[in-house]
Amino acid sequence: MAFFTTFTILLLLVVLSNLAESRFDKYYVPLWGQNHLSVNPQGTQVQLMMDKSSGAGFRSKLEYGSGLFHIRMKIPDKKTGGIVTTFYLTSAPDYQEPGNHFELDYEFLGTNGTVQTNVYDNDGGHREESFKLWFDPSKDFHTYEILWNSHQVVFTVDKIPVRVFKNNTARGIAYPSKPMHIEASIWNADWAGKVDWTQAPFTAYFQDFDFYACSTQGDDVSRCDSGGYFWNGRNYWELNSQQKQLMQNYRRLYMIYDYCSSPSTRKEECSLNV
Ligand SMILES: *[C@@H]1O[C@H](CO)[C@@H](O)[C@H](O)[C@H]1NC(C)=O
Ligand SMILES: *[C@@H]1O[C@H](CO)[C@@H](O)[C@H](O)[C@H]1NC(C)=O
Repeated sequence: MAFFTTFTILLLLVVLSNLAESRFDKYYVPLWGQNHLSVNPQGTQVQLMMDKSSGAGFRSKLEYGSGLFHIRMKIPDKKTGGIVTTFYLTSAPDYQEPGNHFELDYEFLGTNGTVQTNVYDNDGGHREESFKLWFDPSKDFHTYEILWNSHQVVFTVDKIPVRVFKNNTARGIAYPSKPMHIEASIWNADWAGKVDWTQAPFTAYFQDFDFYACSTQGDDVSRCDSGGYFWNGRNYWELNSQQKQLMQNYRRLYMIYDYCSSPSTRKEECSLNV
């Protein structure tokens, strides 16, 4: 009996400490639209609501220099254009109109299941690649991940790599080299279609707030290259052949827009990220 009691208490402690590990307020703070953001009592799920008056967003407390970032997300289930649900890393300071900066984005354009990724490479961006998904992102939670180390940036959806952006500084192409923080938000944008406000409010859900990353103080990210962090290890320098195959198949079947495929939007790095 005593054994079981001790065992149960230990188990409970383990479960509680795991929960505490992934609590929203350990890693994140509300950024804007506070009255449209709510956290469940356990701190394990956040809900961002968009109506005609406002959307909402949150950000990580810290700035980072490398990491394997992820979140679980479920986008609004009411079908509309124009509502953008996001999870991204950015070097742009809060409340400042971003100019030239680094940014790595997941953006759902409307709620019909099109997800766009974008990279700002110390510039104004316009490296959009859009994809359909093999699931309905409004029905269940799925994991959206961004690996960032000194070798490559990899966007991964439920462990399937969908996009790679490599460090090609040796060939004169910029690569994220400033501290970035995480943001997630829901907002509306004309370029993402027309919002059907009769269906408002639109609600997105987020879970799994812990991630692996090296935090920075000041502007130096070089400390975060340390091989002591697993995401900087050799297996993370390049996709393995199985991952490359997965990515190729996925892109062939599901990519619906690629800035690299038109001469007017193509950039230098396009031939180097394969
Ligand atoms: C990019 O790679 C070069 C080596 O080719 C390395 O010296 C540099 O630190 C890397 N840049 C970043 C920002 O990680
Ligand atoms: C989804 O919405 C986006 C933005 O409005 C649009 O570009 C795309 O064609 C839509 N896709 C489908 C399958 O309706």
